[in-house]
Amino acid sequence: MNKVHTVIVLAAGYGKRMNSNLPKVLHKIGNFPMLEHVIFNAKQLAPENIVIVVNQSLRENLSKLSDIELITQESILGTGYAVRTALHNLTELRDLDIIVVQYGDTPLIKSSTIIEMIDILQNKALVCLGFKSHKPEYGRLIIENGALKAIVEAQNDTVKREYLANAGVIVAYAKELHNLVRKIERKHEYHLTDIVSIAATCGLEVGYVVTDEAEGIGINNRDDLIKAEVYFQEDKRKLFTDLGVTLVSPKTLFFSLDTQIFKDTVVDPYVFFGPGVTVQSEVRILSFSHLEHCVIMKGATIGPFARIRKNTTIDDHAIVGNFVEIKKSNIQRNVKIKHLSYIGDTEIGHGSNIGAGTIVCNYDGKNKHKTRIGRDCFIGANSSLVAPLNIHDNSMIAAGSVIVKDVPKESFAIAREKQIIKENFNKQLKDNKNI
Ligand code: UD1
Ligand code: CA
Repeated sequence: MNKVHTVIVLAAGYGKRMNSNLPKVLHKIGNFPMLEHVIFNAKQLAPENIVIVVNQSLRENLSKLSDIELITQESILGTGYAVRTALHNLTELRDLDIIVVQYGDTPLIKSSTIIEMIDILQNKALVCLGFKSHKPEYGRLIIENGALKAIVEAQNDTVKREYLANAGVIVAYAKELHNLVRKIERKHEYHLTDIVSIAATCGLEVGYVVTDEAEGIGINNRDDLIKAEVYFQEDKRKLFTDLGVTLVSPKTLFFSLDTQIFKDTVVDPYVFFGPGVTVQSEVRILSFSHLEHCVIMKGATIGPFARIRKNTTIDDHAIVGNFVEIKKSNIQRNVKIKHLSYIGDTEIGHGSNIGAGTIVCNYDGKNKHKTRIGRDCFIGANSSLVAPLNIHDNSMIAAGSVIVKDVPKESFAIAREKQIIKENFNKQLKDNKNI
């Protein structure tokens, strides 16, 4: 019944206040462009359609968003004009379809808040979202006798006092939105916010929901971006703590939009979670570790000072210690790589022990090659494993070896200069020192 039909995201503005060559909505929060936050949250509403109103430069940057419709706003004439452009292109809409309009530069709006807005839509013309703010630049919600009568743009008002700011989200039925948007008159631009006073003048009721700045913040400049990042990180910390994750020093951690961490995992201070990280339960992540695009399975230990890079899986109870870098590798359960290693394009079978300073030489200057280490192998410290290479189950490599040929199972490979002992050489050197 209250299902959202279409989410319209406005992102065609120039974003000049950002002072950047990158379109504003592509600046990142939690390692993801703010536009992706908006899309991520919009998808939670399971709408039939998500459309983004873009300008030409943003369209060129967004070619990879395959499941989202882009509508180009040819003349950048304001938020009212952007919605008009979108509705003009959405020809299939029926009168009672529920439309959500949202700005691409308000990335922290939650789907649960939009659902709250839809819940009170009923026989109202539309519902807006406000938040308490001291920052002068937002539009102001004007409430009279408990009803929203207008949104007044801040323009030259620089007085810093708390007021109810417009977060820029509108929920309405398609027909109503169409009728109201058509009536917006051009001032300097077409202001979407004018539809509130237009509705009120027509005797229509406008509802509103109130949230806080941590959700409603709009990003116009880099200062706003920093604030939004702080709010985003606070929110993630709370989420993980509620899920039963122990964050030893929460403010020193950095999470991404898609970070997943499960119950009873302990994260020590100063850990960076880049995009695409899943950490299963009962994992321990020690300080100064840097993870991206990887899966860490139950009971594993990572760090301190570990770098886990893209396409890596660390299986149950494996131990990856200090100054170990792993890329595009599958590290099976109970493997130990405890100190000072580079492991790339490698599979390591369960129970193997990789000695300190082991380096996989995966790159020949042109191509990357694979290394396979079987189960229960022992790789002696300071070995170089030159790929492509297979070291089969239960074999052992002597410390300091440079291994260039495959090693059969159950065997021992040694590949280094023989040690020479010259007995009494040092004594003679000492005795003859005056010669
Ligand atoms: C807008 C609101 C203001 C609100 C604030 C919330 C209007 C007139 N003002 O102001 O009430 O408090 O957001 O953050 O709506 N856009 C287009 N096409 C255009 C112009 C803008 O798609 O022609 C897009 C922008 O890319 C942006 C969004 O609409 O994502 C808002 O535009 P912006 O210029 O940032 O409006 P604000 O001045 O922040
Ligand atoms: Ca804005």
